[in-house]
Amino acid sequence: MKAWTAALALVWLSATVALAACPPSAIVIKFAHVVNATDNPKGIAAQMFADRVNAEMKGRVCVEVFPNSSLYDDDTVLEAMLQGDVQMAAPSLSKFEDLTKVFRIFDLPFMFKNIAAVDAFQTSPAGERMKSVMVPRGLAGLEFWHSGMKQFSANRPLLLPSDAKGIKIRVQPSAVLIDEVKAMDAIPQAMAFSDVYGALKTGVVDGQENTWSNIWGQKLYKVQDGITETNHGVLEYLVVTSVAFLNSLPPDIRHQLLDILHQVTVERNAEVTAVEAASRQAILDAGGTIRTLTPAQRQAWITAMKPVWADFLPDVSQANIDAAQAINARF
Ligand code: LMR
Repeated sequence: MKAWTAALALVWLSATVALAACPPSAIVIKFAHVVNATDNPKGIAAQMFADRVNAEMKGRVCVEVFPNSSLYDDDTVLEAMLQGDVQMAAPSLSKFEDLTKVFRIFDLPFMFKNIAAVDAFQTSPAGERMKSVMVPRGLAGLEFWHSGMKQFSANRPLLLPSDAKGIKIRVQPSAVLIDEVKAMDAIPQAMAFSDVYGALKTGVVDGQENTWSNIWGQKLYKVQDGITETNHGVLEYLVVTSVAFLNSLPPDIRHQLLDILHQVTVERNAEVTAVEAASRQAILDAGGTIRTLTPAQRQAWITAMKPVWADFLPDVSQANIDAAQAINARF
């Protein structure tokens, strides 16, 4: 057998084995996401959720996880979910722009002090209400999953926002993030996560913003001069399913499934800071460059970016901003 025939046979065999793992009578849940299964908090949580459902629901429900954009990218997954082609996903909150503007508060630069503050906001009544804002559009938000604080990286040292003047920076497709990059006098370029490594390597873009785990997991540090520890924003996910799918589940199954999901959420969200710290250390151990900011340099980033808040006030509401700031004061 030629090498490529053998490789094809192997791919076919592993696909068959993966599908065969679900008993024919099971309710199958395809869970699609864009990160890897080992480094990113979402990848780890999705696999843990699948393992627990598959072990505890005794063949009544079977979860198959499709990592690394292997089934859908974030720009196609929600439409596919409404069509019934995929049952669960956990896109970042920046990816729901077409469906709701309330999540824009999470993209506003320097809105949350740290992930503990984000957690407190999301578990407050205001945060809980946000999960169901897309129900009229057919999507049910189930749980918020944390990823971490975002850092900037580029093909040149960035110590001040003015160091990014004129360079192209990849962002997620979010109006807030586009304005944030414009506030640095840089050129925002929205693109799918799966294209970021290649775009940085070939110079299509010069820089990007992401969490330590994504910069490590996608090896982005290898195609950048360095990473600046800006902690300027947060990357957060919403685990979603379609209202139609959720309503189609027998009540006892739905209850057990959501219960497992909640337990996994609590467990993994508590670990996120450790996962991010491990990725940061892994980048250093692999020879990546991390630049930290002096208080004055950090203030320059805040001064440049905070004016972005005013443009999105009608979308996010002053009450939510006040709630977020009050929570920050506790951490
Ligand atoms: C990105 O597109 O940068 C992130 O949303 C990827 C992810 O899901 O962590």
